[in-house]
Amino acid sequence: AEVVIVENAEAAGTLVATEIVELIARRADAVLGLATGSTPLPVYQALRTQLAGRDLSRVRGFALDEYVGLDPAHPESYRSVITREVIEPLGLDPQRIHVPNGAHATIQHAGDDYETAIESAGGVDLQILGIGTDGHIGFNEPGSSFASRTRVKTLTEQTREDNARFFDSIDDVPKHCITQGLGTILKARHLVLLAFGEGKAQAVADAVEGPLTAFLPGSAIQLHPHATVVVDEAAASRLK
Ligand code: F6R
Repeated sequence: AEVVIVENAEAAGTLVATEIVELIARRADAVLGLATGSTPLPVYQALRTQLAGRDLSRVRGFALDEYVGLDPAHPESYRSVITREVIEPLGLDPQRIHVPNGAHATIQHAGDDYETAIESAGGVDLQILGIGTDGHIGFNEPGSSFASRTRVKTLTEQTREDNARFFDSIDDVPKHCITQGLGTILKARHLVLLAFGEGKAQAVADAVEGPLTAFLPGSAIQLHPHATVVVDEAAASRLK
């Protein structure tokens, strides 16, 4: 992967937003791969300014993941987060922005449905990624197959602890999620992985320079011909 070290998260946001603006200028119906969590927020923030006044009515998007069994109206469902942070501020068409369906009633075919939707859109042009402290991308926790497709996974205790900050208590963090697989993510035409802060340094070093292993799912980016890693100094501090 190409590693770009930037001064801070805001600079990373500006850089990646510029890339997205160029993509949309080339292709009005570009397909964006959207991540949630804290990491991509500076990108979405920068896009508000950089895309102001543009016609984005044809832009399409696919989120990486969703919690299973959390009411989509819950403020921390990824459907809500994507609506609040991406769809509404940028003025995207909600019909064209997809989030995996975490409802129990349809969970058996939700993964296949999502794969079909991505394929019929022609695949993802640019996939934004964060990385978990345990090395996950999407919610592909350690042990995920490099060939995996969208499916239900169990969140690790580490991830539930990391995400407890978004909920009243750790007991409210769902135990399962539905996530694009590593195989799904690898099919995107350009991967852009962002990471900020000391807490991500080991995961970044392992993903970029460590052995390819299912135990560090982020290492799958080494298989991708066009992967860009955008990090601040702290997150880059364990790179050789
Ligand atoms: C979110 C996602 C996760 C996060 C990762 C880092 O859609 O798929 O892989 O990117 O858990 O989370 P933050 O950015 O909150 O540190």
